[in-house]
Amino acid sequence: MSPPAPWSLLARALACQVAGALAALAVHQAGWLHGWPLLGIASLGAGFCAWRMRLPRWWWVIGAAFPPAAAGVAALQLPAEWFAAALVASLLLFGTVMASRVPLWLSGRRARDALTGLLDELFPERSDLRAIDLGGGLGGLLLTLWRSGRCRHCAGIEWAPLPYLVGGLRLRLAGFPGTWRFGSLWRVDLGEYDLVYAFLSPAAMPRLWDKAAREMRAGSWLISYRFAVPGVPPDRRRAVGDDPEDALLLWRMPRQRR
Ligand SMILES: C[S@@+](CC[C@H](N)C(=O)[O-])C[C@H]1O[C@@H](n2cnc3c(N)ncnc32)[C@H](O)[C@@H]1O
Repeated sequence: MSPPAPWSLLARALACQVAGALAALAVHQAGWLHGWPLLGIASLGAGFCAWRMRLPRWWWVIGAAFPPAAAGVAALQLPAEWFAAALVASLLLFGTVMASRVPLWLSGRRARDALTGLLDELFPERSDLRAIDLGGGLGGLLLTLWRSGRCRHCAGIEWAPLPYLVGGLRLRLAGFPGTWRFGSLWRVDLGEYDLVYAFLSPAAMPRLWDKAAREMRAGSWLISYRFAVPGVPPDRRRAVGDDPEDALLLWRMPRQRR
């Protein structure tokens, strides 16, 4: 399943909270339950709706957890500043998504394993690779690359502040020796790398391709998880899951521009 567009995700998540609240209201009106148990109904309703709307799994949990969390927070009668802080944290996490149309959505274990499995085939007997994860998220893919023992220099760049901070902390704790930068992937010179990994969104792919075709050097590989480049079939494809879209797409550079 492809990452949903951020606005659609938000709209569906909100709709599920409304659905959960309506379910609780209906149960209350029917006189079946009163008080705190109604929160359970709102929670189940929101989680069920998230599932039916085919939101990613972790949104089922977020949807179901929201009504009791909101009620708990309201009961605590916290100062308004706390809510302002929560709003700022959300903006740090999701604010950039609206501009980039690339949500935070992590390569799972199977994609990471598929990538390391490919390294032997793409770069036999090399352990001096320069590799970069464009839009590094929480740094997990980068850790996998580094732990494969094939990188002389592994790098990641991330521009959403909260993921950047969390990823930086995680990499530091793991003793990651490479580079983790805050900034835009569009400013990175791809000519420095043997391997460029990107898990972005369909909206980013035409621009990424133009950049890669301009900058990447001969013999290097561009690898996109899930997203194709319109009009440029990949040289190779490695399935990750059963869904045909769940695959790593590989282009050996240089290739003709579109
Ligand atoms: C789908 S996630 C992939 C995360 C990670 N690479 C992985 O595979 O697990 C895409 C990430 O790209 C980041 N991103 C989007 N646009 C960006 C840009 N212009 N520069 C740097 N990072 C960007 C997002 O904030 C998000 O963390």
